[in-house]
Amino acid sequence: MKINHPALINSLRLAYSAEKAAAYAYVGHARSLKNPDEKVAVQQIENDEWEHRKNVLRIMQQHEVSVSKYFEFKYNLIGLLISFSCYFIGRFMPYFFAGKLESGNVCEYFRMMKYFHSIGITKHDKVLHEMGIKEKEHEVFFLEMIKDEKWMPLFEKIFNWGVNNSSNDVDLEIENDPNYSEKKEYCKN
Ligand SMILES: [Fe+2]
Ligand SMILES: [Fe+2]
Repeated sequence: MKINHPALINSLRLAYSAEKAAAYAYVGHARSLKNPDEKVAVQQIENDEWEHRKNVLRIMQQHEVSVSKYFEFKYNLIGLLISFSCYFIGRFMPYFFAGKLESGNVCEYFRMMKYFHSIGITKHDKVLHEMGIKEKEHEVFFLEMIKDEKWMPLFEKIFNWGVNNSSNDVDLEIENDPNYSEKKEYCKN
């Protein structure tokens, strides 16, 4: 079914291309890390992003939304640049900016869900919810890796993300609580 919702179409196209940028960035990030466990963890996150890209494409195909060549080009370049830069900027910064980015991405999928609802489509709820939660898990992982580092307070002040600041209101404790059945509405603002 074709959809007529420009904002939704744009966010699908953007997400599809940005997932590739993220995956590319994590290739460089994983390679730049010395600790083997951290390497594996970041590689797993890379795989998650490829999976997200597949999911988004599947949704796009169902609604005859084409891939944006412009976004593909732009995010390809951004991904490769970030990937490359990870070799030169030490351990802290790749984790920090990955975490900040993931923090902003979390609501993208919840917002998409709302756009779909506004045109009466609920069949993508599960996959969109899962992707949003997965991005939150990525954010939490990146934060864990650097939360005690000496640069954290300064970077948190400048870039408004860190131990006490997040760009979303998703709560993994609620998500993982089997007794919590009531659905909380995330990303209202
Ligand atoms: Fe993703
Ligand atoms: Fe992610």
